[in-house]
Amino acid sequence: MHSSLLLAAAVCLTACSAAPATGNHNFVLHEKRDGTPHQWTKRTRAHPAEVLPVRIGLTQSNLHKAEEYILDVSDPESENFGKHWSAEKIANTFAPSKKTQDGVVDWLVKSGIDVGRHQYSTGRNWLEINATVAETEGLFNTEYHYYEHDISGGHRIACDEYHLPQSVREHIDFAMPTIQLEGMRPMPNIMPQNTAVAPFTGLTGLANCARLYTVECLRALYQFGPGNTTAESNAMGIAEFADFLYLPDLATFFKNFTTQPIPADTVPQFISIDGGQTANASYDQAEGAGVESALDFQTSYGIIYPQKLRLYQVGDGVNMDSVGTFNIFLDALDESYCSYLGGDAPYVDPAYPDPNEGGYTGPLQCGGAPLSNVLSFSYNQIEAALPVSYQTRQCHEWMKMGLQGVSVLFASGDSGVANRYNSGYENSCLTAPDVGPYVDSNGTRFSPSFPTNCPWITAVGGTMLKGGLNATIHDGEQAVGQPDATDPKNDFYSGGGFSNVFELPRYQSKAVSRYLTEYPPPYTSDIFNNSGKARAYPDVSAIGIKLPTVWLGEGLAVGGTSASTPIVASIVTLLNEARIAKGKGPIGFLNPTMYAHPEAFNDITVGGNPGCGSDGFACQPGWDPVTGLGSPNYPKLEEIFLRLP
Ligand SMILES: *[C@@H]1O[C@H](CO)[C@@H](O)[C@H](O)[C@H]1NC(C)=O
Ligand SMILES: *[C@@H]1O[C@H](CO)[C@@H](O)[C@H](O)[C@H]1NC(C)=O
Ligand SMILES: *[C@@H]1O[C@H](CO)[C@@H](O)[C@H](O)[C@H]1NC(C)=O
Ligand SMILES: *[C@@H]1O[C@H](CO)[C@@H](O)[C@H](O)[C@H]1NC(C)=O
Ligand SMILES: *[C@@H]1O[C@H](CO)[C@@H](O)[C@H](O)[C@H]1NC(C)=O
Ligand SMILES: *[C@@H]1O[C@H](CO)[C@@H](O)[C@H](O)[C@H]1NC(C)=O
Ligand SMILES: *[C@@H]1O[C@H](CO)[C@@H](O)[C@H](O)[C@H]1NC(C)=O
Repeated sequence: MHSSLLLAAAVCLTACSAAPATGNHNFVLHEKRDGTPHQWTKRTRAHPAEVLPVRIGLTQSNLHKAEEYILDVSDPESENFGKHWSAEKIANTFAPSKKTQDGVVDWLVKSGIDVGRHQYSTGRNWLEINATVAETEGLFNTEYHYYEHDISGGHRIACDEYHLPQSVREHIDFAMPTIQLEGMRPMPNIMPQNTAVAPFTGLTGLANCARLYTVECLRALYQFGPGNTTAESNAMGIAEFADFLYLPDLATFFKNFTTQPIPADTVPQFISIDGGQTANASYDQAEGAGVESALDFQTSYGIIYPQKLRLYQVGDGVNMDSVGTFNIFLDALDESYCSYLGGDAPYVDPAYPDPNEGGYTGPLQCGGAPLSNVLSFSYNQIEAALPVSYQTRQCHEWMKMGLQGVSVLFASGDSGVANRYNSGYENSCLTAPDVGPYVDSNGTRFSPSFPTNCPWITAVGGTMLKGGLNATIHDGEQAVGQPDATDPKNDFYSGGGFSNVFELPRYQSKAVSRYLTEYPPPYTSDIFNNSGKARAYPDVSAIGIKLPTVWLGEGLAVGGTSASTPIVASIVTLLNEARIAKGKGPIGFLNPTMYAHPEAFNDITVGGNPGCGSDGFACQPGWDPVTGLGSPNYPKLEEIFLRLP
C-alpha cells in the first residue's frame, strides 16, 4: 500500500551521471533534526543510485519586511488599512533575487548538476532537480538512510542533518528530501458527543442554551442578526482534509435548527483539491469522519446565509500518505507558492500523482482555486513534529493571504496545553528541551500547535456558558472544560500557549507582556517558553460545546474548538458583509484591530486549560492563553470595522 518509496526511488539505469566532485566547499550545518523521530525507525543506508526529486527552497526577497507589510494594510492606525495587495504584487515583491538564483545555480553547476537539469516553480521560489542519492549526499555533505514508519510500514529516505556551503546558505531556506519525516495528517478538533443526547425536541429556544447552543443562542449571546445581503464577492471558505469528508444533512438541519428560513437545496460550492471527494452512502463512516464537516457547514450556514460558502476538500484520502496538508491547500490557491512538479514537500506533504492504489492520478494542483474572504480551518498539527523551516515558509504564505485581504482562522486545539497524538484522541506533550523538544506521550513540556503558532493567522479557543445546565446567555462565559455530569466528553480544554518557534508579533506584545507580568504562570522554562518573546495564542474564542449537528439523519451535540472556529469565521463574514454593503473591502488580517480594541470582546476570566500533568494556564482579566481576548461582541466590532476605511 505504501509505495511512495517507489515513486521517489526510480532506480537509475543509464541516464545518471556518476557522483559529482563536491569541490572545495566550506560546508556549514544547515538543518538538523531535533530528536529521535516519533514513530519512525532508521534502517539501512539508501542505495547510491536511487533518484531523488530534490527541491531547493530559494530564499524569498523582502521577508524581513513581512511584519511591516502586513501591519501596513491591517493596523487600524495605518492610513493604508484595507489597501490589500494583488497576487501579482505579492509574487513580484517576494520572488527570490537574481543574486539568490545565480548563487544557487552557480553552486549546482560547480557541483556537477548542469543547468539543463534545473527546473523552476512558477514563482521561481523552488528549484528542482532529479539527482541520485550519491549526488545528493555530495551536494549536502550528508548520508541518506531508509526510514520505516512503525505503524503504517511506509518508507522515507531521509538524513539526520545536512550541510550547505557557507556562500550559498543565505540563498536557501531549506532543501528536501532531507530531515523531514512526519507527513502529518492534520487533526480535526471535534468532540462528537454521545448520540444518546438526541433528539433535541424542545431544546431549541433561548431557555435551553446551556443544553443546546443553537444559532439562535449564538445570535443572542454575541448580538448579531441574520445575514441580510448577497454580495457576490462575499464568500467564506471551509477546508476539510480527506478522509474527513463532506456529508452534512443540511436540509434537516435548516428545518429543525434554524429560525431563519434557509432553502432546503442550499449547498456550498464544492472545490476539489488534488482528488478531494464528497462522501456517499457507501463511504465508511466508522471514524465519524463526516461529523467535522457537518458541524462546520451547518453552523456556518446557520449564521451567514445568504452569504456564500465554499468547501475546499483537500487530498484524495486514499491512505495516510495522501490525506492532504495545509501546503497542498496553499498550492491550489497560490500558484507562486507551488513547487513545480509532483508533490509539494515530498516526505512531508503527499506526492501527486498519488502512487497508492485508487489514488488521485492528476498532477498536484497549482493555483486556480478561488480565494475566499474568510478561511476557516478546524484542523491543526503539532509544532514540535514539523521542521522549523517548513513551518516558517508556510507561515509566510498565511501572511500573504492576509496581504490579499483574506482572514485566516484556525482552531486552537482541544487538548489544553497538550496536543493531539498522531491519529487519535490521546494527548501528547514534549520532552524537556535538553532531550528534544520532541513529541512524547509521557512528556511534561507543553506542546504548542501549528499553524496557530504562526503570528499571521487568528487562533480561536473555546468557551461555554458559566453556571451549569440551567445557565442562560446572561450568565456570561468561561473557558470550556468544566466537567459536565451529563456527558464526560464535554470535558476537554481550549488549546493555548506559547510557541517555541515563532516570535511575539508587535500587535500582541502589550497584551502578552501584561499577562506574563501580572499573572505569571507557575512554571519554569522547562515547561513552556516563558521568555516573553514568543508568539502566544489563542487570539479570540467562542462557544465550543453542544452545537446541534445533523449527521446521517441523527441529531448530535458536537463540541470542540472545531465549533468555535466556524462561529468566529462566520461572524467575520458578517462583518465583511456590512463593510461591503458600505462600499468597503473585506477586512483581511484581523489581529491588529482586535488587539487594539479589547473592549469589543467579552472578557473571559474563569477557567483554564490543563494538560501535560499540570493545570495549564489560567484565564485572567484581559488577554490570556486560554481564551485570548474573549468572545466577540458583534455590534462593537461592526462599529469599529465600519469606521475603518
Ligand atoms: C524528474 O523525473 C520525473 C520522472 O521522470 C520527471 O517527470 C520530472 O520532470 C523530472 N524533474 C526534473 C526537475 O527534471
Ligand atoms: C443587517 O442589516 C442592518 C442594516 O439594515 C445592519 O445594521 C446589520 O448589522 C446587518 N447584519 C447583521 C449581521 O446583523
Ligand atoms: C464513495 O466514496 C468513496 C470515498 O470517497 C469513494 O472511494 C467511492 O468511489 C464512492 N463511491 C461511489 C459509488 O461514488
Ligand atoms: C509512558 O509511560 C507508560 C507508563 O509508565 C509506559 O508504559 C510507556 O512506555 C511510556 N511511553 C513512552 C513513550 O515513554
Ligand atoms: C436546574 O433547574 C432545575 C429546576 O429549577 C433544578 O431542579 C436543577 O437542579 C437545576 N440543575 C442544575 C444543574 O443546576
Ligand atoms: C522561545 O521563543 C523565543 C522567541 O521565538 C525563541 O528565540 C526561543 O528559542 C524559544 N525558546 C525555546 C526553548 O524554544
Ligand atoms: C427533526 O424534526 C423532526 C420533526 O420534529 C423530528 O421528527 C426529527 O427527529 C428531527 N431530527 C433531528 C435530527 O433532530
